[in-house]
Order: sequence, then structure tokens, then C-alpha cells
Amino acid sequence: MSETNSVRLSGPGGIEAELPVHDGTLGPRVMDVRRLYAQTGMFTYDPGFTSTASCRSGITYIDGDAGILLYRGYRIEELAEKSDFLETAYLILFGELPNGAQRLKFIHDITYHTMLHEQVQFLFRGFRRDAHPMALMIAVVGALSAFYHEDLDVEDPHHRMIATYRMIAKMPTIAAWAYKYSIGQPFVYPRNDLGYAENFIHMMFATPCEEYRVDPVLAKALDRIFILHADHEQNASTSTVRLVGSTGASPYAAIAAGIASLWGPAHGGANEAVVLMLDEIGTVDRIPEFLARAKDRNDPFRLMGFGHRVYKNYDPRAAVLKQSADQVLATLGQKHNPKLEIAKELEKIALEDEYFQERKLFPNVDFYSGIILEAMGIPTKMFTAIFALARTVGWMAQWNEMMLDPEQKIGRPRQLYVGPGERPFVPLEERP
Ligand code: CMC
Repeated sequence: MSETNSVRLSGPGGIEAELPVHDGTLGPRVMDVRRLYAQTGMFTYDPGFTSTASCRSGITYIDGDAGILLYRGYRIEELAEKSDFLETAYLILFGELPNGAQRLKFIHDITYHTMLHEQVQFLFRGFRRDAHPMALMIAVVGALSAFYHEDLDVEDPHHRMIATYRMIAKMPTIAAWAYKYSIGQPFVYPRNDLGYAENFIHMMFATPCEEYRVDPVLAKALDRIFILHADHEQNASTSTVRLVGSTGASPYAAIAAGIASLWGPAHGGANEAVVLMLDEIGTVDRIPEFLARAKDRNDPFRLMGFGHRVYKNYDPRAAVLKQSADQVLATLGQKHNPKLEIAKELEKIALEDEYFQERKLFPNVDFYSGIILEAMGIPTKMFTAIFALARTVGWMAQWNEMMLDPEQKIGRPRQLYVGPGERPFVPLEERP
């Protein structure tokens, strides 16, 4: 990053400021407002951080107008086609694709951290069976901060790396156990002879009663879904992880907070909401009714899986998933999947509609992912848990990047105060 220029601001009352402007490798130029308050006595006001770069990062780049997503400079479409999740995870964490030896070592190291402390199962057992898997994941991941408290110094790069491997390795076990607990089946332990996605499917669907063979086509499709969800720069959950981490808190606590942030329907919870919405629509002929609701300002209904803060074009992840949906459903012999048919028709009608065109609302990553996951036999309540599992790579990479950043400070925004001015305390008997 270079400081190439500056911006002069002048305003009423003789306000003058000269602020540096930075150029990143790609993307819009960034005005550095750190000295704004010192120079003018003013803060910036940006609810939802629509115009604020909260950090410098070299991990993921999004060109929302062009519909481009890069992990460490590589196009998401290319990674989805040519890479696999653990290789992509290595790339996201370390900045370069691994060579053969690095790849094998990374796979080995992740695989050999997949087991959970035996005591962790009692945390699951404390929950009601109908607990949402995301609630369990928040609790269990947060609890890992207790299991790995004494031996974790967040200032030590080696400790940080161990935490990173543990977190990525244990997430599939935690997510699969959340599911097993909800259906009253025994927990299935991880198997070191299986790949990352394979192992997750095995822990989800195997029982101790008989041998369970993972369909390689499904494992590949799930691995691709993991790649597509692995990172997405400074979204709500990643910003949450950074904010929690900026206080020096345990990374397990930061990831638990990230999972909580991801859960909402405006973020990762949208994949579950899309499938529920498609269920509610039910038939193609009811699409206009739901589109009309989505456009009605007085109706809180939104087209789930549509629109994005950054993409003002087709989300490239949605494009890969749309194609993947066709392939997976064909492999599973579900050529006529009613939900996929409704989703495609909904997309077609919405993209031709003036309301969606004007606002540049396109399908996002969540629009097609749920249909694939459902076809694979994964229950709706697990969709966001799967998103969290994959995003853990991005969260850990962003946390590590933040911990190394010499400009890193505790995250502490200011506010535009609109409450009462200072006033004297009113005794009870004098209150109206
Ligand atoms: N359906 C109908 N109208 C919409 C939608 C939608 N899905 N999304 C945005 N709009 C309208 C919105 O009403 C507003 O219209 P107007 O200018 O007339 O007031 C305009 O488009 C801009 O919307 P916004 O809420 O200001 O945009 P935002 O950047 O704050 O919100 C979003 C982005 C993703 C929260 C929003 O598009 C949304 O709620 N989408 C549905 C939920 C969803 O699919 N979320 C997943 C996002 S991608 C994966 C992830 O982040 O995890």
C-alpha cells in the first residue's frame, strides 16, 4: 500500500483538513481519516460501515460492480474448479498455494486435530434436542476457550497457529455432532483416512451399526461449497471476529462471536431462509405474489438469497453454485427438483423486473446453496452451520492477519450522540 496523495477538506466555520489517500493493489482509493478528529474536531458518520475500510487486508478482494471475487489473487471460479478446500484454506491462511510437501503436511496436521476433548460431548448433552445447531456451535466453540486457555498466548505466533489448526480441524466434528445430538443418534468420531468434506459427511450420516460409504460426488460437491464460503473480506461476521480479537480475547471466543454474527438471516442465515421461502412459494405460479411482496415497502418480506452490500452484479459464487446444482441433482437422479425449478424461475423474473434492476439486486451465494445441501440430505437447520464451518478458515486467517498488523488497535467506534444533555438527578417524589 502506498500513500500517493492527499485530500484537502474545507467547510463552514473555517474547518480545514488535509488527509492522506492510500492506494491498495486493487479497488477504490481510501481516504485516511485517522487525523480528521485532531484536525477538525469532527467524526465521520457511517452506520453499517458502507463507506469505511476498517483495516488493511491482503486476503480477499471483491469487485462488486464486476462480480469478481479473488482469494489471494485467484478467481473463485478457478479455485472451485481446480482446487480443493484444504488447499484453498492453506492459500487463504498463508498467501500462496502449497507445494506437494506443504499440502500433504497441512492435510495431515488438520486431520490429526479433528477429535474433540471427550468432555466436550457433555456440553452437547446439556442442550434440548431441538436446539438450533448454530446455538450449539456458538456454545461449544466458545467453550473451547476454556479447554485451551492456559496454553494459549495470543501474542505467540506458534500458539496462534495451533489455535488456527485446531479450529479448522474441529469445526466439522462440532457441526456434525450438533446434528447427531438433534436426532438422538450417537456421536460419530472423526476418521483420519477420510478427506475433510468426506469426514464431515461420514460424521453426519454414519452410525455405529453398519458401514457407511461416502459418495465421492457428494463429497466433491460439498468440498466446493466449502471453497465458495471460505472467506469474503470484512463482512459482518469477519468484522465481529476482528473486533472481539482486537481486545486480545481468545480466538475461540472470537470465532463463537463470529458464528453468532453469521446466524442472522441478512448474513449466513439466508441459506436456510431461502429454502424456507421456496417452500412457502410452493409453485411457480405464486412467484409474482412473492415478488410483489418483496417490492412492497410496507411488507418486511425480502427475497432471501437476493441482494448484497458489495455485489451490484451477479455474485460469482452463486453462478458456480447454480451450475453445481444442476450437476449434483442430475447425479442424484433428481432432474426435476421443484425447488430448483422455482428458484430458477424466480431468478429469471426478478432479473427482468425494474425494481431489482434499478437496485442492482442479483442472486447471492445463499440462493442456490441450500437447494444442493437439501438434495444431499442435509437438513435445513444445518445449512448455516455448514457456512460457519467453511468460513472458519477466513475468520482465522483474518484474525491472524489482524494480530500481525502493526496498526492494529482495539476496535472502538465513536457515535453521533442524540440523547439528552447533562441534567440534574430527579428525586423519586418529584418525578411525573
Ligand atoms: N428483496 C427485496 N428488496 C431488497 C432486497 C431483497 N432481498 N435486498 C435489498 N433490497 C432493496 C431494499 O429494500 C432497498 O430498497 P430502497 O432503496 O427502495 O429502500 C435497496 O434494495 C437497498 O437495500 P439495503 O437494505 O440498503 O442494502 P444493504 O446493502 O444494506 O443489504 C442485504 C444487503 C444482503 C442485507 C440485503 O440485500 C438483504 O436483506 N438480502 C436478503 C438476505 C440475504 O440474501 N442475505 C445474504 C447476503 S450474501 C451472504 C452473506 O452475507 O452471508
